[in-house]
Parts: sequence; structure tokens; C-alpha cells
Amino acid sequence: MNDSDLRVLLDDMTLEEKIGQLLQVNSSFYNAGGLLTGPQQNEQFSRRQLELAGSLLGTVGAEHLIRFQDSYMETQPHRIPMLFMADIINGYKTVFPIPLAQGATFNPELAGACAAVAARESAAAGIHVTFSPMADLVRDARWGRVMESTGEDVYLNSCFSSAVVRGYQGGDVSEKGRVAACVKHFAAYGAPLAGREYNQAEISERTLMEEYLPSFRAAIEAGVKLVMTSFQTLGRIPCTGNRKLMRDTLRAEMNFRGVLISDWKAVDELIAHGVAADGREAAKLAIEAGVDIDMMADVYVNELAGLIDSGEVSRGLLDEAVLRVLSLKNDLGLFEHPYKDADPEAERRLMLCKEHRRAAHEAAIQSFVLLKNEGGNLPLLKSERTAFLGPYINDQNIVGSWTIFADENPCVSIREGVSRIVPEPSAVFLEGCSLLDKETRFAGFRGLADGKSQPDFSAREDEALKLAAGADKVVLCLGEHRQHSGEGGARGEITLPQVQTDFLKKTAAVNPNITAVIFCGRPLDLRNVVPYAKSILVAWFPGSEGGSAIADVLYGEACPSGKLPMSFPHSVGQVPVYYSDFTTGRPYCGQPDFRFASKYLDIPNEPLYPFGFGLSYGAFAYSGLSLDCDILTKEGTVNVTVTVSNTGVWGGYETVQLYLRDIAASVARPVRELKGFRKIWLEPGASAQVTFAITEEMLRFYDINMSYTSEAGSFVAYVGGDSTAADSVAFSLI
Ligand code: GLC
Repeated sequence: MNDSDLRVLLDDMTLEEKIGQLLQVNSSFYNAGGLLTGPQQNEQFSRRQLELAGSLLGTVGAEHLIRFQDSYMETQPHRIPMLFMADIINGYKTVFPIPLAQGATFNPELAGACAAVAARESAAAGIHVTFSPMADLVRDARWGRVMESTGEDVYLNSCFSSAVVRGYQGGDVSEKGRVAACVKHFAAYGAPLAGREYNQAEISERTLMEEYLPSFRAAIEAGVKLVMTSFQTLGRIPCTGNRKLMRDTLRAEMNFRGVLISDWKAVDELIAHGVAADGREAAKLAIEAGVDIDMMADVYVNELAGLIDSGEVSRGLLDEAVLRVLSLKNDLGLFEHPYKDADPEAERRLMLCKEHRRAAHEAAIQSFVLLKNEGGNLPLLKSERTAFLGPYINDQNIVGSWTIFADENPCVSIREGVSRIVPEPSAVFLEGCSLLDKETRFAGFRGLADGKSQPDFSAREDEALKLAAGADKVVLCLGEHRQHSGEGGARGEITLPQVQTDFLKKTAAVNPNITAVIFCGRPLDLRNVVPYAKSILVAWFPGSEGGSAIADVLYGEACPSGKLPMSFPHSVGQVPVYYSDFTTGRPYCGQPDFRFASKYLDIPNEPLYPFGFGLSYGAFAYSGLSLDCDILTKEGTVNVTVTVSNTGVWGGYETVQLYLRDIAASVARPVRELKGFRKIWLEPGASAQVTFAITEEMLRFYDINMSYTSEAGSFVAYVGGDSTAADSVAFSLI
């Protein structure tokens, strides 16, 4: 349909029909199953409101959605097709590593390829829109949703956000195998005070513009079709009702022209925030802020007609919102093809097919981060006898907390992965330790989860310790519960469950050759792990092929190459801790006896493991850092070059990182910022020259007047394998 036809359609619609297009409900209201991904309280929708709702969330399945579309369009006066949306976060049926793990690959193209697989599978299952990527910058490991982000760095997040949008959408969302992407949560949801879920965000406008919005800007430049509002307040104004943020910043300054959808019930929650006395005021705030779709609340459908009839809200405001929703349906080709890609045969053929499993396997391998490997303890030898212990050895649900459509598909467990490449008795398996402390109780995504409801493996602890004592090496597969991160998963303590730490210590007492494989949705405080493990491999939640990928890395079939996308703190007391912080007026320079410096009395300033850090089986040396010129002009380029050599005996990837520092400016500038990275493969003994081009644009920031600009002065370029890289060269911008 062309734009003028859309206009004709819009003009022919009744007020009731138009408002209906702005409602999104969960399919459970149609007795059509579907998964609730948020609280359902007292929403009441009339039959007519449900008949006219413009979009549905939370249900999938080609046959089911074809039937649904047919019956829905029968009741539509203009036979406008319904939009089907769902949370396809790290894969649909083929599950990839959680987004934080994908950030650890430092390989946006890989993440884009994962998104393309997720699009193919979910489109065949009838989905049109996914609520992904989450582009929130995250720096507080207490917050549960760090698992859904690609980490603490502005530039890295922007690279991933752009690549994932392109992976989902391709060049044209109406094409087969493509879905529209919805970047979320706008804005600064990743900065909740104290890391507490839904808590307020209190950041300066400069920090917002310079650190929290670039990844959304990148998504918009990549053509993202939807943006989702965030639940929390920003400067005490709930984002969903924040007209300045949505109309002046998102739409005008960032040039977003697509659909703005609220998060679950967020329009209604303007009342709870205390900025709306009732639904009528909430509806007015949200529609004036430019929120097009009211997700899972009955505010728009119950209040907008009255506001328009009274003249408090103009018809023009309503029409622009409805036109954006109709345009999205049109971009997807739904007027001509209301089922789009829904195809039961393709659905059966594509789900978890070999090609998709291979993609999941490669993504998992590249996501693992080797934090420690004392004395070459890894890789394991197949000739050695290794005891695999701990609560995760047989787990087939290592998908993280946000894969609501894949739970019934078992992942490859560690036991299965290892058994494929190592015959017993070289590898023996016994949990010997439970996942949770017995007294632990928390509300999971699907109700209560507690220590008592978890399998109790402690009864065979002694047997497991005997296996450890009789083995050459031990692999302990430990971690936090998958529902201890994700939405509603904020934690005040970020250590492993005590029961696991106790088991680790007992195991170390009988066999020191321990590798700890850590499953987590966030950076953890690993201080109680480091002294007892010779090797530590962070596996995050690796998805469908997790066990086979872990086995391949443990036995050297593949080399670990992941780099931390988020700092692992020394302790929760440091949080938020991130590499691109500021010197302060009294920087700590390592004198513990000097009181008046920016430091703690009882813990270090540095995280346990810094952003960008990760070991390989190879050994990489950097040399010959140089600049082709040390003066940069506004129009010019300065090239910084380094030689990277693999001095080890293993071929592997190394992610070479470029950080820049602005020594003095009209406002305080971070001690360094990631401005480039290059993931290169080096065979043993090989070397490669890596060159980064530095331009004036890379030096821009929001100056004292909030102008986005660069300022002449001195700069330092650091190049190395993580954010503590010391090799540096200086240059000036004139
Ligand atoms: C949830 C999440 C959001 C998700 C939406 C729909 O509350 O905040 O990320 O996409 O509701 O499930």
C-alpha cells in the first residue's frame, strides 16, 4: 500500500478503530495461550476493544497465528491485519548466548548473524516484531538485566546495537526471514539507583547524551522500526510520559520516525509514579509524549476518546500515532501478506537445524572468557582422568532468563558435550553439590523458585569428593541460578551460593587442579573462587550448544577468545565500577597510607577483572606502537599502528583495543574510552600489524555548553588487550 492509500484508510477509520490500533494485549485475553512477560492485574478489556486491538504480544506458532489473523481480520471493519510481537532476545528455538555473553565476543557481526537466525526462525513461527536489541548501557552488576545488554561501554554497545538491528531487519523488513526490531529501553533504564529493579535513574544530561543514548542513535541509524519506553523515571520524570525526552530528543534530535511502544503497563504506571491522578491524565501525558502503542494497559482504549471529544487531545495527535502503526504494518507487507512468513513447514524445517546449531556453537565458543589459567592447567588432555562436578554438569536449560519460547528444547549439557569427544572413564560426572542454598527463596519468571525445589545433590557429596581425589583434574560447573538475573533479578550480593563455595573449598582440599566453569547473567564477585581454582572460565548462559562449546574449549578443540564486556568487581561495594571513569581532583596513585585520595579504606579501586580482559591459550605480545603523525587536524587522520605477535603454541583470536584519552577539556573527561577494536586470528609464532585511524570525530563530546564538539589539545592513545593497556602514544588536535 502506498502512503496516500494509507492516508485514505486512516481518514476512513472511526475513532474507535483508530484507538484500537494503539492497544497491544497479551494473547491470554483471547484465550489463545501465550506467555505473560509482566504483571497482569486488573486490566479489563471489552470484547469490542479486543476485536479492534492493533497488536498482540507473547504468542507464537505459524498455524496458531494464521488462524488468529484470519479470525481477527474478520472482525476488523477495514480488515487491518494484526501485528504479532514477542521477546526474541537471544534466539527463538535455537538459543544463542545471552546478550552480555555476545558482547564478550567483541564480534558485532557474529551477533548480527545470530539475530538473523532468530529472525528466520521467529518469522516462520508467525512473528513480525521482536522486542530486541536491548541497548541499555549497564554498569551496576546488582541489576538483573545486565544479562540482556552488551555491557558497560558506549562504543561497544553502539556497534552491537547497530549490527543486531541489521541482523533482524536486513535491508527490508517485508523480506522473507526478517522481523522488525524494537530497540529498548528508552532511556537510561540501565542506570537504576543502587541497581534496584525499576528504580529511578539520576544522571546528568551530559551523561545521558554522551553515554546512554549513542547505542540508541546507532540503532536508529541502522533503521530500527520501533523504540520501547523504559519504566523508570529519569530526573524524576517517568520516561513513558516524558515529552521532552520523547519528542524533543528521540524524535526531533535523534530523528526517529518509527513506532514508540510503551513497556508493559508503563502508561498505566504513570499513576503509580505519582505524575497522573488517574487513567485520563496518564493517557494525556503518554499520547502527548508521542507514545504510539499502550502495551498491556487499558488506558488508551478507555480514555483517549473522552480526551479527544473534550478537545484536551487533538485528533491530529491521535492520527499521527495511528499512521505510524499502520505504516509499520505496511513496511512489513502485512496488508498484502497478513501471514507474512508464517509457515508450518518452514517452522519445522528451520528450528534448531544444523546450520543454526553451528551458529550457536560458534557464538558460544567466542563468548567464553578465560579469566585465569595458572600453569597451563587448561586445556585438558583426553588422556587425563577428569572429574566433572557441580550443579551444572547435566543442566540442559543453560539459556538464561529471557528465552521464553525455547524452554522445552534441551540444550547440549556439559556432560553430553564432553562425552561426545572424550570417552569415559577419562571423564566422570557427578554433581555432588546443589545449585542453591536450601533457605534461598525467590520469585522466578514462572512463580516461586527456592532451594527446596531444586534437586538436592548434596547426598552424594562424599562420593563426588572421592572422584575428585582420584582424578588428575577437576572441572567444577558452578553458577548463579538462571532466574537470579533478568527482569526482576536484582541482587544485593553478587557471589556464588554459599553451598557451592563450600563445595569448591572441599574439592580443592583433595585436588588442587581445579577449573571453575561459571554460569552467570552478570559479573560476579569471584573472590571466593580465585584462590581455589587454577582456571576460571566464564560461560555466562551459552544457549543450545553450550555444553558442546564448553567441552571444545576445555579440551582445546577451540581456543577461548572472549573479553569482558563488563568489569567483574572486587566486591559489590565497588559497584558501579567501570573502566571509563574519572580521575577526580585527588586521584589515588597507589599510596595506601595517604588518606586524602579517591579510594576506599578496605577494598581496592580496581575491579577483580577489568573491562576488555580475557585470556587465550595463545600468548600475545604487543610491540612497536607508533603514530604516523602526532598532529591531528579537523579534516585529517592520524594512524596508530601496533604489532601483535602470538608467542605461544596455540593459534587463537586476540581483540586488539584502542582507547583514547582527552587530557584536558572544558569538562572532565574519562581516563580513557574505547574507540576501536579489531579481533584478529594469529597462528603460533605469527605477527600482524594492526592500524587504527584516529579522526577528530572520535574526540567529540558534550562541552561546557552542551555542544557536541571536539576541543583542541593533548590526547593519548592506548593500545592493548584490555582496558588497562599501558602502551601509549601522544598526539594533539589543533
Ligand atoms: C517486559 C520488559 C520488556 C519486554 C516487555 C514485553 O516487562 O521490560 O523488555 O520486551 O515487557 O514482554
